[in-house]
Amino acid sequence: MEITKSSENKIDKLVSCLPQENICGRPFVQYNGTWFPLLAIPGVISSQELFQADESEIIIAGLPKCGTTWLKALIFSIVNRNRYQPTESPLLSIHPQILVPSIEMDHFRDGLPQTIYQLSRPTISSTHVPYAFLPNSIITSNSRVVYVCRNPPDALVSYWHFRNSIMKHNNTSVQVEPIEEFFDQYCRGVQPYGPLWENILGYWNASVEKPESVLFMTYEDLKEDSMFQLKRLASFLGFPFSSEEEAQGLIQEISTLCSIGNLKNLEANQKVVHYSVVPGTSYFRKGEVGDYVNHLTPSMIETLNKLVEEKFAGSGLVFKSKLITTNSASE
Ligand SMILES: *[C@@H]1O[C@H](CO)[C@@H](O)[C@H](O)[C@H]1NC(C)=O
Ligand SMILES: *[C@@H]1O[C@H](CO)[C@@H](O)[C@H](O)[C@H]1NC(C)=O
Ligand SMILES: *[C@@H]1O[C@H](CO)[C@@H](O)[C@H](O)[C@H]1NC(C)=O
Repeated sequence: MEITKSSENKIDKLVSCLPQENICGRPFVQYNGTWFPLLAIPGVISSQELFQADESEIIIAGLPKCGTTWLKALIFSIVNRNRYQPTESPLLSIHPQILVPSIEMDHFRDGLPQTIYQLSRPTISSTHVPYAFLPNSIITSNSRVVYVCRNPPDALVSYWHFRNSIMKHNNTSVQVEPIEEFFDQYCRGVQPYGPLWENILGYWNASVEKPESVLFMTYEDLKEDSMFQLKRLASFLGFPFSSEEEAQGLIQEISTLCSIGNLKNLEANQKVVHYSVVPGTSYFRKGEVGDYVNHLTPSMIETLNKLVEEKFAGSGLVFKSKLITTNSASE
C-alpha cells in the first residue's frame, strides 16, 4: 500500500485502535502481535508490498542492539572488498547506519518510498521486523537474509543505554525510566520489535527450513570466533574468501576495520547525528558479552533465565552463553 492522503488517514485510524505503550520514553504500538515504534508503522506497512528487493539483495535482520550495526560494517566490507581496500573503505567516513539503510526507517520513511543512493553492490538493507513482516519481494526473490541474535539480557541493557544516550543528547537533564520498568515490560514481551522470542524464533525457523536463504548468527559467536564466523558469512553471501586472501590477512583486516573500538573512534561516527536525534556514537557502547551482570540484579537475571528457557524450549535454539547470575562468572 502506497501512502497517499487517504491511506495516511487509514494508517492513523488503524494506529488509533492499537494497544500503545511507552518503552524507554518512546511510543510503541502493538500491530499484529509485534511492538513497533509508532514512527516506524507507516514504513513497516508500506514496505511489505512496495519494497523491491534486487535479485542479489542482502538483508540484515535482527532486534535493535543485537549486532546489526556491526553486521552492516562487516557485510559491506566483505561484498565490496574488491572495490575498496580496507584502508580506503567508505566506512572510514560514513556511519554504517547511513551506508546500509533500513527498509522501514529509510527506504520507506514515513511510509513514502525514498530514493536512496547506495554505494554497495550488491545492495544491502536492514530491518528489525519479524520474519512474517518481511516485504514479499524478499521472500520471493533470491535475497539472502542474515539474522543476528544476541543474549537477551545484554540486548536489554544495551537498548536501555541507547535510549538514555538519545534522551541525554536532547536534554542533558532528562533520563529514561529506571531499568526496572523496562525490565518488567521486557518480561511481558513489550519490547521494540518483540516479543524477542517471536522475532528470534521466526528467523530461526526460517534458517532451518531455508538455510540457503537465511543465515542465523549470534553476537556471541561473532565475538568469540570472528575468523570462522566471517568465513561462514562470506560463503553464505556468495563471496567466499580465497586461500590467498586468507593468507594475506584480509579477514583479520576486515575484522579490525569493523571492530567497535575502531568504528567508535572515527571522527565521522562521532560527529554524525542520525535522524537528527541519535548521536552517532550511541551505536557503539561497549559491545561486551555478559555486561548485563553490572546492571541487572540476580533475581532479575533468574527471572529472565526462566523466561528464556520457557520460550525457547523445544526450538533447538540454545543460547551459548548461559545466562549467569554472579559477577565472577562474567565472561
Ligand atoms: C527533545 O526535547 C524537547 C524539549 O525538551 C522535546 O519537545 C522533544 O520531543 C525532545 N525530542 C526527543 C527526540 O526526545
Ligand atoms: C530538560 O529537562 C528538564 C527536566 O525534565 C526540564 O526541566 C527542562 O525544561 C528541559 N529543557 C529543555 C530545553 O527543554
Ligand atoms: C517455529 O517453529 C516451531 C516448530 O515448528 C513452531 O511451533 C513455532 O510456532 C515457530 N515459531 C515462529 C515464530 O515461527
